[in-house]
Amino acid sequence: MSNQMVKLKLILLFAVCLLAAALSAQTPADSPAKSSNPQASGTPGASADDIWWKHAVIEEIYPRSYADSNGDGVGDLKGITEHLDYLRDLGIDAIWIAPMYPSPQVDFGYDISDYENIDPQYGTLEDFDRLEAAAHHRGIRIILDMVLNHTSDRHKWFVESASSRDNPKADWYVWNSGIPVDSPGVGDFQKRNEHDGVVPPNNWESFFGGSAWQWVPARRQFYYHKFYKQQPDLNWRNPAVEAAMFDVMKFWLRRGVAGFRLDAIPELYEDAQLRDERDLGGTNDQGDPNLEEVRTANQPEMHDLLRRLRAMVDEFPGNRVLIGETYPPNIAALDAWYGRAAHDELDLPMDMLVGFGSDAKFNATYFRRVIAESETELHGSQPLFVFDNHDNDRSIDRFGDGLHNVQIAKGIATILFTSRATAMTYYGAELGMITQTPKRKEDVKDPIGITGWPREKGRDGERTPMQWTPGPQAGFSSNPNTWLPVAPDYKTVNVETESADPNSLLSWYKKLIAIRRRNPALHDGSMAMIDTNDPDVLSFVRVRQGKNSAVVVAINMSASTKTVTLHLRSSGIDSNTVRTLAASEQGLESIRPTESLTLPPFASWVGAVQ
Ligand code: GLC
Repeated sequence: MSNQMVKLKLILLFAVCLLAAALSAQTPADSPAKSSNPQASGTPGASADDIWWKHAVIEEIYPRSYADSNGDGVGDLKGITEHLDYLRDLGIDAIWIAPMYPSPQVDFGYDISDYENIDPQYGTLEDFDRLEAAAHHRGIRIILDMVLNHTSDRHKWFVESASSRDNPKADWYVWNSGIPVDSPGVGDFQKRNEHDGVVPPNNWESFFGGSAWQWVPARRQFYYHKFYKQQPDLNWRNPAVEAAMFDVMKFWLRRGVAGFRLDAIPELYEDAQLRDERDLGGTNDQGDPNLEEVRTANQPEMHDLLRRLRAMVDEFPGNRVLIGETYPPNIAALDAWYGRAAHDELDLPMDMLVGFGSDAKFNATYFRRVIAESETELHGSQPLFVFDNHDNDRSIDRFGDGLHNVQIAKGIATILFTSRATAMTYYGAELGMITQTPKRKEDVKDPIGITGWPREKGRDGERTPMQWTPGPQAGFSSNPNTWLPVAPDYKTVNVETESADPNSLLSWYKKLIAIRRRNPALHDGSMAMIDTNDPDVLSFVRVRQGKNSAVVVAINMSASTKTVTLHLRSSGIDSNTVRTLAASEQGLESIRPTESLTLPPFASWVGAVQ
């Protein structure tokens, strides 16, 4: 195809795209009560049967920390509603809101005491409906966090269950009478949890420290809790539990939510025989024995349950999405969460291997390997890349070298928004907010940081208030006593300041997301690595079928200037003319690379093939 023909086709395509974008209703997923118009991406080429979440940019919002509308120092739903224009302008398709249900807040919302309401700290159900309507109006969907593994110990189900051994909910949680303290194999860790001569039935421990079994005198039994003792695990082998939790999800699906992020999904079932976990030697950050995690996670029943859950959610129109909090050890384990070739379980289990792999570093060889795996080892399922969330140090700190952190964050954003994966980001990542780990134990709010100090300092660092302005409390709250301190860098790292700077990280996010939304190759083009032996520069092409649209991406992950060879012809692209769409360094914007491209240290570059 001649260059001129390619140009003509692209101009035509562009015109069609503009028209499509203008016509696109940007309507979030409809509730069953509304008409079924599932498509909302506003992206060229989008059709009615196009699945919105395959192209989406999803932002996690931690409601305590996003925006405080009533001056109590804690974020709330109205605060989110007031900032929807910002999210729309950023190009966000959906927000995942961390739990905002009534909760004693032991685990800041992950201990739910009522699944069908809003915690008064965050507002009311009416506030939620207003948020949803206002988001819908802007083409933004709402995804809720759904905690299936456990409830709060104040939930009425648990209060009833704990009251006796023969109440109607007696079997809704994982109860056990324990074993005599002198039973063979009982170790010191178990013996520390002795009550009247009995100890827990095995050595299982809580993720958050100590034994996973808690004694209840009224039942003279232990209950199991994978997380805090205030988070008793539900008994998913009881069909009544499944029915009740499915009802909860239907309650929100009817209210119009676009899907769920399923919390701690691998932990739902435990070994039915209650066998000990293997002791791996040494101790963890909470000072407890290091145990394998084979008996308390990833049990086989999980997959049947997910198929039933998938089928239930599919009764609702609009391609509601099921996202999973999965920390798979390898790509085969990730594939299992999709239902492998059957594709009948989760839509988007989180690919934590890319962003959180044990060997994760800002290195072209590393990213080429993990991205290639997600392209080839998932039976064609849609990958979901995640680099940041409310449980881990922010990626700018994990990948940064301390000298080029913003450039490195631009490189991470380039992978996130130009690869084929669905993109999950986290509030403040777009600004380069950094992890603010507390310096003194007395300042820690997250309980694991108190019990684990100083080895484990908790998760407060990645949950600090959103930085909106250079003004008081960074514009997060009118109250100087914010629930966590505002990070000291807020005068320069904030929405207002960065919006005015075309070279800021925020401007880079906006530019890339805008290109992702309008460019057909980025929308659903295939993905292939180029220059595959280069240890420093990660480069790939995205090609839309028919080869009339292609995008080339190159990220220099080294501290030296590097030249890459594009090899476009060997990638099946019949053109050598490439025009810059986005460049993280000034000066790169005007180049028109042909066969090779020279990138300054840590530069990211995105170009369109003409
Ligand atoms: C998930 C959440 C985390 C929470 C835990 C228990 O890992 O992301 O914040 O503490 O589950 O619900």
